Amino acid sequence: MQEKEIVISRAEISGRIKELAKEISSDYRNCNLIVVGVLKGAFVFLADLLREIDIPLEVDFVRLASYGADTVSSGEVRLSNDIELEIVGKDVLIVEDIVDTGLSLVFLRKLFAGRNAKSIRICTLIDKKERRQVELEIDYTGFEIENGFLVGYGLDFAEQHRHLPDVYRLKNQT
Ligand code: IMP
Ligand code: MG
Repeated sequence: MQEKEIVISRAEISGRIKELAKEISSDYRNCNLIVVGVLKGAFVFLADLLREIDIPLEVDFVRLASYGADTVSSGEVRLSNDIELEIVGKDVLIVEDIVDTGLSLVFLRKLFAGRNAKSIRICTLIDKKERRQVELEIDYTGFEIENGFLVGYGLDFAEQHRHLPDVYRLKNQT
């Protein structure tokens, strides 16, 4: 068993999600909102966030690959599953579990921009800002966490821990 300590509790997450959803609902009123979740990590956050948003929206998913069964990014991002919906003229909100180097989201933003979305914004549950390698504007951030490798609430380490209701930091990992 890998040792871990709790860093964000389920109560903190649910409180923050209500605030983010309120902001998003107000910012996107009278827009053509399409929420795109980044699999697999964002599925838990997305499910809770969407149920607090009170305006019409569409949902789709992409799957990106950049990490293997390791805690260090390979630095290479590729699309392993694309969205099915059209985004031309739509207001795209990308929902991520955690932003680390920023490479994944720079890649995705560029991809959607090339398809003539009307607007593209980013919402992430967690921002590990200090580890950023590329410039990236994030529009909605749940929590900023300085360091460590985090698991739970959708986040995994080698596919484990995604089902945990709180967010933990693994001990002895960078
Ligand atoms: P980036 O391209 O380096 O920003 O990588 C972001 C992706 O790496 C996230 O969507 C996660 O899938 C994964 N990742 C980065 N840091 C962590 C972490 O602390 N725990 C779990 N996954 C992470
Ligand atoms: Mg992810």
